[in-house]
Amino acid sequence: MTKVVCPGSFDPVTNGHLDIIERSSHLFDEVVVAVLVNENKAGLFSIEERIEMLGEATSSLPNITVDSFQGLLVDFCRDRGIAAIVKGLRAVSDFDYELQMAQMNDRLSGVDTLFIPTSPAYSYLASSLVKEVAKGGGDVTGLVPNHVLARLNERFGR
Ligand code: PNS
Repeated sequence: MTKVVCPGSFDPVTNGHLDIIERSSHLFDEVVVAVLVNENKAGLFSIEERIEMLGEATSSLPNITVDSFQGLLVDFCRDRGIAAIVKGLRAVSDFDYELQMAQMNDRLSGVDTLFIPTSPAYSYLASSLVKEVAKGGGDVTGLVPNHVLARLNERFGR
């Protein structure tokens, strides 16, 4: 049984995240999607809302669970018997920081990080951009699931 984690802020989940989560679910026995609880950064959506949106978006995939974590990712991995961290790489610009984190996590606990290249259709996509565009009244249809789109419209008063 190979259990992996797809960690992130997911504020909110995008179709780019879901591309990586879904492809991971085909490669590994169990995928835990873990939402970081960051006390220093208030998000647009609460942790509970992010978990709800992820749960709805992944409900058709039987080997996915959604959870949250505080503190170090390596501790979450140890406590849950998680063998590896899976991350999406959108572009070379992601690589520097992702490699740094992967090597630090390896040093801390020996946990491996596996990178999956993001589908080209989503290579420019980020939650921060989705929020900025949606806030400004731009159309983010097709970049997030429809139920997330509805929540964004609601949050921004449309
Ligand atoms: O979606 P994000 O914000 O890019 O995700 C970043 C995340 C949550 C994967 C990363 O910040 C993380 O793992 N944070 C947990 C704290 C931690 O373990 N820090 C040490 C990293 S080497």
